[in-house]
Amino acid sequence: MEFVILNGEIIERNEAKIDVEDRGYQFGDGVYEVIRVYNGKMFTSKEHLERFEKSAGNIGISVPYSLGEMSSLLEQLILKNDIQLGTVYLQITRGISPRNHAFPHAETPTTMVAYTRQVERPVGNMKSGVKAILTEDIRWLRCDIKSLNLLGNLLAKQKAVEAGCFEAIQHRGETVTEGSSSNVFIVKDGTIFTHPADNLILNGITRKKLQEICSTHSIRLEERSFSIEELMHADEVLMSSTTAEIMPIIDIDGNKVNGGVPGEMSKKLQELFEAEIEIQCGQLVTTPGEI
Ligand SMILES: Cc1ncc(COP(=O)(O)O)c(C=O)c1O
Repeated sequence: MEFVILNGEIIERNEAKIDVEDRGYQFGDGVYEVIRVYNGKMFTSKEHLERFEKSAGNIGISVPYSLGEMSSLLEQLILKNDIQLGTVYLQITRGISPRNHAFPHAETPTTMVAYTRQVERPVGNMKSGVKAILTEDIRWLRCDIKSLNLLGNLLAKQKAVEAGCFEAIQHRGETVTEGSSSNVFIVKDGTIFTHPADNLILNGITRKKLQEICSTHSIRLEERSFSIEELMHADEVLMSSTTAEIMPIIDIDGNKVNGGVPGEMSKKLQELFEAEIEIQCGQLVTTPGEI
């Protein structure tokens, strides 16, 4: 039996019903989070829940639960569904109201749902590296909000999949922004570069963790945007996200990066990131080095 959270209650999945006029369904009028679970424990949940509250606040939705309440509910859900290795998905919408672009009155109750999924770590890809395509970033100008409206991201990802690739690296004109569901980094002469956390990218929690790791281990990381030209001439390229962790990109539009194999910096960051996971969640069973 699978359980989900609907508006603060843990119930059986097949009992959870959402109204057809929920604004999430009609307009994508809401925000979401995906949190990783290792050994039955959430990783960086505080950061994710804070971003959830901030994204909601940015579109005028006030989350009717404290961070502590949400965290405790999610922990119970993980336990009930017996998730050891997986993800928790959490979303909130502006609630149910007759379809109208303008917001419903402020007292309209929000709809919040959460569910879990069993998800393996993509260790094979992490070890071999993955291919990517380049595509124009056609999204709106508030990519810092983790909005349910993901059409631009979906179209980019689908293009990648159709080209037999793992990710689509998006660019606005000459400037590389981020992946369709990840942040992108280049390594040049020992320094890592990534787009600044402004309105053009989602400030990834994995990205933030990488920044912390780099600062602790005296690895040079600069938040500065880089061009397609710099991307194509980088020593290494990598992407980061909650589910893909630290993923080396070894081919872009058919051009090999670092001779088509993950570079030393990417491997080092993977190891340091795994060490962070193990501090919070305990020992990992499968690491890329083991397969
Ligand atoms: C557009 C976009 N950028 C970046 C990320 C990475 O964010 P995080 O590390 O918090 O998963 C995601 C994750 O889904 C994303 O959708």
